[in-house]
Amino acid sequence: DNSTFRICCIGAGYVGGPTCAIIASKCPKIKVTVVDVSADRIAAWNSDHLPLFEPGLEEIIRKIRNRNLFFSTDTKKAIQEADLIFISVNTPTKSYGFGNGRAPDLRYVEEAARQIAHTATNNKIIVEKSTVPVNAAESIKTILKTNKQPGVNYQVLSNPEFLAEGSAIHDLLAPDRVLIGGDETIEGLSAIKKLSWIYEHWVPKERILTTNTWSSELSKLVANAFLAQRISSINTISAICEATGASVSEVSKAVGLDSRIGSKFLNASIGFGGSCFQKDVYNLIYLAESLKLEPVAQYWLQVIKINDWQRERFAHMIVQNLFGSVNGKKLAIYGFAFKKDTADTRESSSIYVCRYLLAEGASLHIYDPKVSVERIFLDLSEQTGKTETDLRYHVQIANDAYEAAKDSHALVICTEWDEFKLLDYPLIYSTMKKPSFIFDGRLILDHDQLISLGFNVFCIGQKPPINKYLNQSPR
Ligand code: NAD
Ligand code: UDX
Repeated sequence: DNSTFRICCIGAGYVGGPTCAIIASKCPKIKVTVVDVSADRIAAWNSDHLPLFEPGLEEIIRKIRNRNLFFSTDTKKAIQEADLIFISVNTPTKSYGFGNGRAPDLRYVEEAARQIAHTATNNKIIVEKSTVPVNAAESIKTILKTNKQPGVNYQVLSNPEFLAEGSAIHDLLAPDRVLIGGDETIEGLSAIKKLSWIYEHWVPKERILTTNTWSSELSKLVANAFLAQRISSINTISAICEATGASVSEVSKAVGLDSRIGSKFLNASIGFGGSCFQKDVYNLIYLAESLKLEPVAQYWLQVIKINDWQRERFAHMIVQNLFGSVNGKKLAIYGFAFKKDTADTRESSSIYVCRYLLAEGASLHIYDPKVSVERIFLDLSEQTGKTETDLRYHVQIANDAYEAAKDSHALVICTEWDEFKLLDYPLIYSTMKKPSFIFDGRLILDHDQLISLGFNVFCIGQKPPINKYLNQSPR
């Protein structure tokens, strides 16, 4: 009887929350409980101020919360009741000991598996939703097997998540594919069927792909590594463009029209951010190193090195063009999130650009439509090693883009928020120091229009206009 099917999800983060919201909304007969060790996070999920911003999420949560979607700190009860348990906890890069800076830290996954084993008194399907290294399912199985209550059996599946932040709801509703890896035994196949049945409530069957567990685990790392690699590839080309007069947008378009290459993920930028790409590329590098495949590790390491270089290059471009010094100069930083439509700043390139500029003595006025003041200071403190009190001498947070721009020497576009395209640039120009500069790290503005207003425009992937210092006088 499927009418009483129950799901527990351990981890109420960027993946667990939205994923379970979609499952619960598409499967009204399934009871879904999302649990977390953080009581604050659960309280936020149960309040009017969700712990994360994701377009379309709030409307869904409001409709189904406490109907068949529940957020709770009672992990034991949720595990006990569940037929199927998602492990959706964080898997950060290790920051200590062996594999420091490379290896994924699996302690939260292990902790979740131990909690399940100690609590569960009937059979369960365990689904690893977190991004994990190849073979993690085996470790989970071992922990479950050696700690389980008598008579309890587990099936462990791999079901990586491919959603991107800012478009999570869309990605969950219409995924390119759902990937399920499991054992090729009768019990394994039956568990795969059960998980597939959940997705079949809204995902066409032909988009549900089943593989063995290792392939599934590895595919997730490879998908993220390929995406990150495309960005680093186009970013290397952006440097060539700046030096030669080619335009990286034109090159991306021309190259992307080849159907074998495709047009997506070819936007040059100040480097990729987010909690996943760097971590998962390191995950792959660590795997290759562990397998003694040094050339493979070196190949993927370049993706990260280019990303770091791109961030530094952009900051250098700013300093160089502001007559070699930004010391004491006010700069308006537009955007702190790692991409638009999210308040998430994990590994945001904006943080690194700010760090470089602060080291040069700049005074930053930061504006982001979604990121909180506390978050910005936390991130900058972590990156610079300075306290908030010290940082406040050089960093101010503006309430809007106009306030940030007033009396500044330059606007620095770090995040591609749509609202930055719609600002009143003639007004902004009139309030800035002269000559006024714009550094467009996301290639989102109308550069010809800005130049005609009098701005000196510099961007990633394009040679700056030759007459840059001719139009510097106030209009
Ligand atoms: P997150 O940090 O937002 O959420 C993880 C949550 O798990 C936290 O709230 C934490 O308190 C909780 N947690 C940790 N251990 C727990 C335990 N033992 N019991 C209960 N709760 C526990 O992380 P996230 O961004 O949701 O990522 C989760 C996983 O999904 C990671 O492996 C990540 O690589 C992967 N992933 C993330 C994205 C993304 O866009 N963020 C996309 C695809 C895959
Ligand atoms: C990524 C993957 O896309 C997703 O499938 C996976 O599940 C999690 O990791 P996410 O990090 O949320 O998702 O966002 P994504 O849209 O991939 O952007 C990552 C970073 O790359 C952002 O900083 C973005 O601005 C940057 N980016 C993206 C570029 O610089 N250029 C591009 O062409 C695309």
